[in-house]
Amino acid sequence: MDAYLSSVSVPEADLRRNPDRRQIDLQALFGGQREIWLEIGFGGGEHLIHQALANPSVGLIGCEHYVDGVAKLLAAMKCEGVENVRVHPYDARDLMDVLPDGSVSKAFLLYPDPWPKTRHHKRRFVSPENLDAFARILRPGAELRVASDIPDYIRHTLQLTRDRDDFEWMARTSADWREAWPDWSSTRYEAKAIREGRTPCYLTFRRV
Ligand SMILES: C[S@@+](CC[C@H](N)C(=O)[O-])C[C@H]1O[C@@H](n2cnc3c(N)ncnc32)[C@H](O)[C@@H]1O
Repeated sequence: MDAYLSSVSVPEADLRRNPDRRQIDLQALFGGQREIWLEIGFGGGEHLIHQALANPSVGLIGCEHYVDGVAKLLAAMKCEGVENVRVHPYDARDLMDVLPDGSVSKAFLLYPDPWPKTRHHKRRFVSPENLDAFARILRPGAELRVASDIPDYIRHTLQLTRDRDDFEWMARTSADWREAWPDWSSTRYEAKAIREGRTPCYLTFRRV
């Protein structure tokens, strides 16, 4: 599996630990010009695989630092013959640092770790710094999708984005956050949340 992982990984040479790191050459990474989508914290990779199979002309980059999740994704990629996914098996923030400005057309942040205790809120992936990074790498008009089952995380996300002028929340009616996206494929975490009686919420932002 190690050889397969290195064949589909974003080259480490570009990343934070390397003082000479450069911006990623996305064309070289995917062997040609493609629209680029990004999924952060893909867990077991169910949604990433679904999007890759449904959108073969798109290049998808998935980030996940949980080793078992990466192993599950790689097994599914091999089994399904997925060729349009590249993997960053480390902290997503390191990868975002080396993505070119305006290079991403869609980003997915699906059920980010909730960090419910107030003293841990600064560990939440939705933060002013990470929204700055999303704003830089998303092209104008690009979509940022955030799903969560934690009401306080949803409030937190809406508050932080409302205070900025670079993201517009696209909801017009309650169905827009209560109903999943038409191309949605449920994740392991979502299935567990529903089993345990929590209600998913789906937020769509547009990069202005
Ligand atoms: C609650 S789980 C949800 C997983 C998946 N999206 C789902 O819906 O089943 C959050 C995931 O985000 C990953 N994660 C958290 N922070 C991350 C980071 N900075 N970089 C990469 N992955 C991260 C965690 O390892 C975890 O697998």
